Amino acid sequence: METKWMKLLEEQPDMDVIKEAGQIVKKGGLVAFPTETVYGLGGDGLNKEAAEKIYAAKGRPSDNPLIIHIADRHDLERLVKELPAKAEQLADAFWPGPLTMIFHKSEEVPCETTGGLSTVAVRYPNHPVALAFIKESGGFVAAPSANTSGRPSPTSGAHVYEDLQGRIEMLLDSGEVGIGIESTIVDMTVEPPMILRPGFITEEMLLQVIGNVTVDKTTQKQIADMAPKAPGMKYRHYAPKGELTIVSGSSREVKAAINELLEAAKEKGLRTGVIGTEENIESYRADIKISAGKKGDELTAARRLYSILREFDEKKADVIYSEAFPGTGIGQAVMNRLLKAAGHKVIQVQQRGEKMIAIGSDHGGFDLKEKVMEHLKEQGIECRDMGCYDKNSCDYPVYGRAVAKAVAAGEADKGIVICTTGIGISITANKVKGVRAALCSDTLSARLTREHNDANVLALGAGIVGTNLAFEIVDTFLGTDFSQAERHVKRVNMIEEL
Ligand code: TXA
Ligand code: MG
Repeated sequence: METKWMKLLEEQPDMDVIKEAGQIVKKGGLVAFPTETVYGLGGDGLNKEAAEKIYAAKGRPSDNPLIIHIADRHDLERLVKELPAKAEQLADAFWPGPLTMIFHKSEEVPCETTGGLSTVAVRYPNHPVALAFIKESGGFVAAPSANTSGRPSPTSGAHVYEDLQGRIEMLLDSGEVGIGIESTIVDMTVEPPMILRPGFITEEMLLQVIGNVTVDKTTQKQIADMAPKAPGMKYRHYAPKGELTIVSGSSREVKAAINELLEAAKEKGLRTGVIGTEENIESYRADIKISAGKKGDELTAARRLYSILREFDEKKADVIYSEAFPGTGIGQAVMNRLLKAAGHKVIQVQQRGEKMIAIGSDHGGFDLKEKVMEHLKEQGIECRDMGCYDKNSCDYPVYGRAVAKAVAAGEADKGIVICTTGIGISITANKVKGVRAALCSDTLSARLTREHNDANVLALGAGIVGTNLAFEIVDTFLGTDFSQAERHVKRVNMIEEL
């Protein structure tokens, strides 16, 4: 079969194409279509032969139930035996949108669609192409994600084509999706309702509407003898071909640990990959490095995750290490998918009895010093504030010396000194034996001075670098290890002998 690949505008889809797609579904055929979460592989939700075709096209086990997509809230009534009041509340709050609810099914829903279960999953998506297509298809479209079984869900038409060309009649392609991970699934047949799959609609958002929800524990970790309640969640999904491992712990420990793991993998001749935050990504010594967005921006991480996993396949990574994502908000969903992609392989990095960072500035560096301290605190890094303590004019050598002394005495692991240009305070710090202070205005210098000079004090010019760049420089400096290469060790020793 040849797959017709049709490009459409998301906001103003060509209705002739949508009608043609609807006819295909009405006749029992298959059409892939975009939703706000991921692309779906659609067939008639009330036709059991269509369900069988979907399983065959996807290569999916037929005990794994499909979600029925509707485009009109009233159509829900035809699919379910009863409609709990809480489901109405959730529908009011989040439909159309990335929320799937599970109900006791009506007679009209074929068992083939629900994988033999007496319950049915229903979703009312929020995407102009999806809604128009569902209406033209008769109102009930059964659709799993439009990937072949086991592969990451498709977030673009090109992903769908890669997986399903020749297996479906048509692909409606309106470019990249907005959310990037599948809908939140909530089981409404239990009390309190239970989240079976985390997604864009978070636990907190559900709690605000219905007061009480529980979470299927298997969504956060693998539990022996406990199968996930959504049948599809038991499979090793979303998996890239390379071996993926998540490394979890404080930011700088994770960076050091991943770099060690990369070295070991390279020695074995493996092609290496890393998924990290934009702030950290350059500090990894991997063949393929892909940023999942800025630290704390889990929405971007969600949007990019699946295409990142596919990119590692394309670039043929043998092993991939990923930073962990925080388990709150949509980070919970990102971490859930990442854990599944990694087959739950997680390395928890031990704290190495980390010492604190001594930090000091004069009046010109005071504001930046306060911000850097806050930034380090957010990462769980302990700081010792050596002054100054307000913006009144003061002498930089006093504070540069205090930081340098703390580092030289081993009371602090490393130091940070700040004045307007960073120059006077770095000159001061370098007077103290054992201190190698480096004035850095970019991340390359910050990395290389750690790798080559084993610099132990970072000097910053508050009038030279802005806050964000200062944070990047600090993170790079603290997250990079001395290379230990013989020539660098020799040169550092020469400095110490001066
Ligand atoms: O965002 C989404 O939900 C996407 C788009 C295309 O709408 N669809 C999607 O479908 O992710 P799929 O088939 O890849 O995942 C559906 C999940 C599976 O884990 C399945 O086991 C679970 O929903 N599920 C479906 N019906 C169920 C039911 N009656 N009881 C428990 N779990 C169910
Ligand atoms: Mg899927």
